Amino acid sequence: MNPTSGRVPVAAGIGLRAPHVRDVLATRPAVAWFEVHSENYFADGGPALATLDRVRADYPLSLHGVGLSLASTDPLDRAHLAKLKRLIARVEPGLVSEHLCWSAVAGRHYNDLLPLPYTEEALDHACTRVAQVQDALGCEVAIENVSSYLAYADATIPEWEFVATLARRTGCRLLLDVNNVHVNATNHGFDADAYMKAMPADAVCEYHLAGFAVTPAGLVDTHGAPVAPAVWRLFERTVATLGPRPTLIEWDTDIPSLATLVAESHRAQHILDPGHGLAA
Ligand SMILES: [Fe+2]
Repeated sequence: MNPTSGRVPVAAGIGLRAPHVRDVLATRPAVAWFEVHSENYFADGGPALATLDRVRADYPLSLHGVGLSLASTDPLDRAHLAKLKRLIARVEPGLVSEHLCWSAVAGRHYNDLLPLPYTEEALDHACTRVAQVQDALGCEVAIENVSSYLAYADATIPEWEFVATLARRTGCRLLLDVNNVHVNATNHGFDADAYMKAMPADAVCEYHLAGFAVTPAGLVDTHGAPVAPAVWRLFERTVATLGPRPTLIEWDTDIPSLATLVAESHRAQHILDPGHGLAA
């Protein structure tokens, strides 16, 4: 690996989580890159940032935002963007990403990544906001499709068309969360493969894989379980359709051992490797 370039390789990585930091620094596991939640490193200094610098010395990093409320109708949080820009300058990440969602409105914050109504008005708004964020940060931002448990009665655009058009209009990249596509396809009854085929391959710069929970109301994107067999199969078909990309194993609740995460990343790597699937 060549961490100094900062480029995130077309290989499997894992999320850097607090319980594993000591282990990562001590053992330097065979992982191609790490992704962190940007907001955890917004402080001016302190041990978390010092640790991130040490990890960055040995691995490429991806900064993944969970708190910008990108597509809200509230004004963009300029203080948040300034902190993110400062962190980008410090760690020189290979990827910077945010979610296609809103989390706050009229100053009220929700601890969730809420879906947009997929309408022309919301699409125009999301395009404007993505352009503003890319201008403010001075770099390309990858936008991630979110999981959802409701659809708006006013929606007129299929989710996949909304996401693809956002990328085409703004020139943003896409972080394609394969698990979220599976969860939404199951919850809302659409074809996950049609979704993948609608994605502009040139824009897709990263995949996410994660686990979900099965509930009577539908699938819930918990990031607290191994990647499900159906998601592995969808990932294989997606890689065959759109091509290999840097791929993250996301695990945020009921966090397993570092060895388990590394093993999941190696399974993803096997699917990314050249020649995979050719004999099938
Ligand atoms: Fe994700």
